[in-house]
Amino acid sequence: MVYQLYPRSFQDSDGDGVGDLNGITQRLDYLQSLGIDAIWLNPICASPNDDNGYDISDYRAIMKEMGTMQDFDALLAGMKKRNIKLIMDLVLNHSSDEHDWFKGAKSSRDNKYYNYYHWWPAEKGTPPKRYSLFDEEANAWRYNSATKSYYLHYFSRKQPDLNWENPALRNEMYAIMKFWLDKGVSGFRLDAFPFMAKDTSWPAMPADFTNDQFVRYYGADKKVHDYLKEMNEKVLDKYTDVYTVGEGGVIPFSKVMDYVNEDNHELNTLYHDEIGNIWGRDSLDLGEYKTDRKNVTGVKQIVSKWDEKFRNKGWNTVYLTNHDQSRAVSRYGNDSPAYRIPSAKMLYTFLLTQRAVPYIYNGDEIGMTNIRFKNIEQYNDLQTRNRYYILLKESKEKAEAYLLNQQELSRDNSRTPMQWNNSANAGFTGGNPWLPVNPNYPEVNVEAAEKDKNSILNYVRQMSRLRHDRKDILVYGKYSLLDGANPDVFVYTRESGGKKLLVLLNFHGTNAVTNTGIDFSKAKLLISNYENTVADGHLRPYEAAVFEL
Ligand code: NOJ
Repeated sequence: MVYQLYPRSFQDSDGDGVGDLNGITQRLDYLQSLGIDAIWLNPICASPNDDNGYDISDYRAIMKEMGTMQDFDALLAGMKKRNIKLIMDLVLNHSSDEHDWFKGAKSSRDNKYYNYYHWWPAEKGTPPKRYSLFDEEANAWRYNSATKSYYLHYFSRKQPDLNWENPALRNEMYAIMKFWLDKGVSGFRLDAFPFMAKDTSWPAMPADFTNDQFVRYYGADKKVHDYLKEMNEKVLDKYTDVYTVGEGGVIPFSKVMDYVNEDNHELNTLYHDEIGNIWGRDSLDLGEYKTDRKNVTGVKQIVSKWDEKFRNKGWNTVYLTNHDQSRAVSRYGNDSPAYRIPSAKMLYTFLLTQRAVPYIYNGDEIGMTNIRFKNIEQYNDLQTRNRYYILLKESKEKAEAYLLNQQELSRDNSRTPMQWNNSANAGFTGGNPWLPVNPNYPEVNVEAAEKDKNSILNYVRQMSRLRHDRKDILVYGKYSLLDGANPDVFVYTRESGGKKLLVLLNFHGTNAVTNTGIDFSKAKLLISNYENTVADGHLRPYEAAVFEL
């Protein structure tokens, strides 16, 4: 079980309004109480924070708002003592424009760092069209007058793309990985890795470009495989027990195994976005937003398809949300007062009974909800702000519609500060929080949840114990879908060594019935999110239960 922790929003220990490493250290007992095995820390390296740490200006230094290298060492020691591993975020595709490499590169074509980045010389005319995901003008090329050339930035203009074709750059990145592994971290989450290599012949993008063509026009999969293999040879193979997870949302399903098949020595795991894609996701077509929350059958198909893919080889991951998506209970459950608690528990029953590495996103364990900002000025995230202003140039209606969508989907929804207690700013900071605290904190907070034996938090702990106690079944056991066509409920068994568990999940706010054909007479209830759960195939709104058969 991995806990994803967004350090900027977790716990501020020095009153500057930004979460920091000492804040995390202070909360280690809490983290241990969740029964997690590892923590993935979002970026903590030096950064001007154009994209909250995904723009690194020094890969070997700690971001000043987050503390010092001594603080990092203390955090790591505290984690080791509690047997929790640390996974660092490795930002491979781009650096900050304030990194010394880029400062040198942009000064002259003769600078030794010029080829650490991708450039298009102005004498060749206008660069081939590439959209940027975060740029104010959506253009991924930006002119630099000192070199009379354009640099590439798939993300913001303060995040120039690194040139992995240059062996000197690759060796720098490998040395950085060794630096952190030698400190004792246990692995890396590889940010945007499918883009680390590019097809530098820059094929023209079709007018009808769709998201599934991303790798073709933004990446170069053959070279990515080569770099990952080299990374293993030069770095990862030299350490024991190192875990890698790639951000693989754009990798087509048919290509997944090429990256995670252990024979290939590339990645241990990657994560995909398919559940999010049918249950509500920003689309790259600016402003468009799709959602199909009722589509439980689609989710079942996705889970079953991925399970099948990993039946004999490789290993899967599962998550409901992260720092790039909105809150799980708001998106997949129901955050109304009546159903926030049962639906969040139902989602955790799902997450922690999967045959995959489950990722818990911080704050979800107490059922934090979307903040739903009303005005563009309230947003911090550059993605929301820049897209809004691009759309505003097109029409006011489009911009307004986008703003409404962002109430459900903006990344800021999941980045609001952790709610610890009912004191000012939810106990997150003694200062001014960098992003407002969700006003529901007097009710939704860790301290209140600790005291309530029926809280989401205590349910997560129970589920986590169950997963560890029945590891043979719940982690490794076979998964089989039952009642697959039922549009309301998700039912499956997990089994191993002649023992079988049944998981029943009602994803909707209405009563539901499932026909599993299973003999319930000997079924023993292990956990459920309601009082008086009986095994008869009837489920109340958002009811979830695990039985031993
Ligand atoms: C993916 C990260 O998860 C996201 O937060 C970031 O903005 C982009 N990569 C760019 O690094």
